[in-house]
Amino acid sequence: MVKIDQIELGKFPLLLAPMEDVSDPPFRAVCKEGGADLMYTEFISSEGLIRDAAKSLQKLDIFEYERPIGIQLFGGDIDNMVESARIATRVNPDLIDINYGCPVKAVACRGAGAALLQDIPKMVKMTAEIVKCTHLPVTVKTRLGWDDATRNIVEVAERLQDIGIKALTVHGRTRVQMYKGDADWTLIGKIKENQRMHIPIFGNGDIDSPAKALEYKNRYGVDGVMIGRASIGYPWIFSEIKNFVERGELISPPTIGERVRVTRKHLDFSMKWKAGRLGIFEMRRHYSNYFKGLPDFKPFRTRLVESDSYDEIIEILEEVSGFYAEIAA
Ligand SMILES: Cc1cc2nc3c(=O)[nH]c(=O)nc-3n(C[C@H](O)[C@H](O)[C@H](O)COP(=O)(O)O)c2cc1C
Repeated sequence: MVKIDQIELGKFPLLLAPMEDVSDPPFRAVCKEGGADLMYTEFISSEGLIRDAAKSLQKLDIFEYERPIGIQLFGGDIDNMVESARIATRVNPDLIDINYGCPVKAVACRGAGAALLQDIPKMVKMTAEIVKCTHLPVTVKTRLGWDDATRNIVEVAERLQDIGIKALTVHGRTRVQMYKGDADWTLIGKIKENQRMHIPIFGNGDIDSPAKALEYKNRYGVDGVMIGRASIGYPWIFSEIKNFVERGELISPPTIGERVRVTRKHLDFSMKWKAGRLGIFEMRRHYSNYFKGLPDFKPFRTRLVESDSYDEIIEILEEVSGFYAEIAA
């Protein structure tokens, strides 16, 4: 049984990655149903939270059925990170996660996210202060290092464990790599080989199939995997991986009816969550993912993303259901 402090996560937990503008409550609802064992909010700016910025505050909204769920924070100033961790603690998530991995300029060039990989003493101090200020378990998500010359995650993992984090997720790329090239899990495996490590280590980067998840589990010995991009429009990835890892079974891909049902669920929640039309707009980026691989889907997609009317979108989805059911038959 893998545990983060007292949180029991099963034998080989599958984590939904924090993803800005993706991992909101509507998306999390479909991933929870899809079988994610632990989920995170999108990253939340510590400065934004302290300023009461509405967008940051809305990201704190979590629901009972989502548990266990972590709130992810980022920032470059230790006092602000501590203050924002106190604010997040009041919302009562199951854990607080610190982002030391975000590579984008707007974050890393302001001393936050992956920038802390260039200043390990500050990263350690920031983490220690956050661990002290909250009764909740604190976890960290980071990368292998800043660049190829500083792939120091094995040492960093030990130092973070020593000051009290309860789990670590490592994305197998450096900051300089951004999202390019293949993720390299070799050092993640090395963390697991370190006899001193006892907290759960989760691997992240490029998991997109049951076979790959099992292969990486066996090869690198990780306690679980975190899945990001492969879950967008395909929340079935969690149950597919779980069935394969636990029972060696490959379950059939979702039927068209199932794809439409889950797309509708996502849309309906988006409408509630984003108050109407904004929910319609936000769903537009998801349709092609939900229906990936279907032949000649483009005209349907064009109509779905051009419509401003909920009723019309539902009608188009029903058409999609009928059209592809016939093709499959
Ligand atoms: C659209 C998008 C937004 C992301 N936002 C965050 C974020 O808010 N916090 C974070 O720690 N990582 C973020 N990431 C990185 C992912 O959590 C994950 O580490 C990365 O996508 C690699 O995993 P994957 O190959 O399974 O997608 C984001 C990635 C994407 C694609």
